[in-house]
Amino acid sequence: MVKTLTIAAPNRLNERNYMELIVPYVDAMQNMLYRIEALNKDFSRKYQNDPIHHIQSRIKTRESLEGKLRRLQMEPTVENARDLLTDIAGIRVICYFIKDIDWIVDIIKRQRDLIILKERDYIRYPKSNGYRSYHIVFGIPVYHTDGMDYYPVELQLRTMSMDFWASMEHRICYKKEPRQPIAQEMLVEEFFGYAKQLEEIEAQMEKYCEKHPRS
Ligand code: GTP
Ligand code: MG
Repeated sequence: MVKTLTIAAPNRLNERNYMELIVPYVDAMQNMLYRIEALNKDFSRKYQNDPIHHIQSRIKTRESLEGKLRRLQMEPTVENARDLLTDIAGIRVICYFIKDIDWIVDIIKRQRDLIILKERDYIRYPKSNGYRSYHIVFGIPVYHTDGMDYYPVELQLRTMSMDFWASMEHRICYKKEPRQPIAQEMLVEEFFGYAKQLEEIEAQMEKYCEKHPRS
């Protein structure tokens, strides 16, 4: 007797399975947002000021998921999105000072039900173009009817000056039209200079940062 082997076809991303895919990522992101907001409230109540200026969050759109998988030279399927991407859910926390970021990172890392999947300290080790931020991907437990799975949430923590630089750099240096290579090089150099200037201004202002509970 000849046995036929059936292999499940990978699910290409369409609107329906995209909406299904993101459900646990939305839950994981909400869970992390509550934790961060609770910390901010607690800090504010105890020390009469907020370490966080504002928070942004987003779920990657279907188009953006497909684009990223294509850049990785992978098929835009549900399986690949789940297996390869750790930034489907993303939260950006904009703080006043670097001390605020250190305090938040330290406290969240001690929450025992979370796991750390990836960590990049671009504040102490900036990218060659001057980009600075603290990136951590946490695995957040999401409970279903038949058990629990960890879902990744990418947390980016920056000061306001780092956010100003990154937003401008993203807007100006990632322009769609092709640029002359020399102009591009000058722009990168110019932005590197701005990153240094902003770092100095922020360090000057940091002397007015109130004493932190953990410092
Ligand atoms: P992505 O494919 O962009 O997610 O990069 P990655 O997976 O290699 O991770 P990385 O930590 O380098 O960057 C993740 C995110 O940080 C990006 O999606 C941006 O939001 C931000 N980022 C990283 N580098 C830069 C940069 O040079 N400029 C700006 N403006 N943002 C950056
Ligand atoms: Mg990303």
